[in-house]
Amino acid sequence: MEYIVRGNIPLNGEISVCGAKNCALALLGATILTDETVVLTKCPHIADVDNMLLLLKKMGKKVSRNGQTVQISGKLNTVNVPAEVATLLRGSVLVLGAVLARYGQLTLPLPGGCAIGARPIDIHTDGLKHFGVSVEYDDKGLVCKGKPQPSAFKLRFASVGATENLLCAAVLSQGQSVLYNCATEPEVVALEQMLVQMGAQINGVGGSVLTITGVQRLSGTVFDIIPDRIVAATYLSAAVASHGKVTVSNCCPQHLSAFINAVCGRYDVRLYNDAVTLNADRAVSDYGKVVTAPYPGFPTDMQSLLLSLAALSAGGTTKITENLFENRLQHNADQLALMGADISVNGNTASVRGQCLFGAELCARDLRGGAGLVVAALGAEGTSAVRGVEHINRGYVDLAAELSSLGADIHSVGLDK
Ligand code: UD1
Repeated sequence: MEYIVRGNIPLNGEISVCGAKNCALALLGATILTDETVVLTKCPHIADVDNMLLLLKKMGKKVSRNGQTVQISGKLNTVNVPAEVATLLRGSVLVLGAVLARYGQLTLPLPGGCAIGARPIDIHTDGLKHFGVSVEYDDKGLVCKGKPQPSAFKLRFASVGATENLLCAAVLSQGQSVLYNCATEPEVVALEQMLVQMGAQINGVGGSVLTITGVQRLSGTVFDIIPDRIVAATYLSAAVASHGKVTVSNCCPQHLSAFINAVCGRYDVRLYNDAVTLNADRAVSDYGKVVTAPYPGFPTDMQSLLLSLAALSAGGTTKITENLFENRLQHNADQLALMGADISVNGNTASVRGQCLFGAELCARDLRGGAGLVVAALGAEGTSAVRGVEHINRGYVDLAAELSSLGADIHSVGLDK
């Protein structure tokens, strides 16, 4: 499937943000920690979430969905994560901690996901080893044995997934565990909050040091998935690229502060409790120097959006350094060059001189990069085709329909893969 986009049409109107993919995946993994019913509301209809629900179902959980509400209950009937689903989504790794906490063993085929870099899981496995779990690899993938025992562990990098897994691993282990250098992304904090609601004892919620006192069991709960900050930033970027005026509602502006500072602050922006209104009816020269970093730094997941905006800016030079995923810059830089962009990549830094872009045939190779290409197409003169929409569908409910509702000329052609 591909998107056909005619650019240079200012977007206008209001659009609401769906629940966050990365929050949904972490919370779904954590449902394994209890047999009782966990109800998640605002659960987005996207491919990664559908695959995670399928994975839970194949492992024995009862799963039902009614609109944006999903209900999960029951025990697992296997600790072998099914390869045919696990390889479809990187998020499958997020069952690791919970399965070990409840069942003390697991095999996990190596996860799929974006082609954005090596994506090792050594921090997850080092932490588990610290918790006394035996970790080996065989031809089926990762093989872990043993219930996690209380311990203290310092993550060598504040990895989102490793923090989530190690937290889930620790909540049922009898005694006190301490995790140092934890990720503080809003999606991690939402997981901490849900676990506390389920009866977990966690000190330091929201911070980088978590002290966990293991409890015997966790109960069911009802929890709202937080708004997707990357989707919100995509809509704001679409407004900037097209010189439009857009209100993004049902979002959390506080979670968007790095993006708002780097991008929206250069335009006429209004912040509300749960909405952002951006009027981007003029061009800016550049976006200065931006470096991706763990929260509250500028998110790597918004880097391709910024790359496109920098390429479309009015003649100045923006420098973007990608510190998290090594392959995230080059592919989109090459694609934007097909539109006439002036970008040079040196190591993990792109130097982007803004200018007019023209429609071209583009190819998305990963989720966030794909959204970045759509944003570039919205700001380009003429018509673009963006192939690889199946990557974009992993994280967006229906990007073409959402952008059309703001007046964009975008439609999909061809069959979904
Ligand atoms: C999560 C998000 C992803 C986002 C990323 C960074 C989910 C499902 N995905 O991915 O959208 O881009 O956070 O905000 O929530 N690393 C290691 N060893 C490990 C783990 C990570 O070296 O064991 C490195 C990674 O290669 C990367 C950095 O740490 O350079 C950050 O990765 P991490 O925070 O773990 O990202 P994910 O949890 O995979």
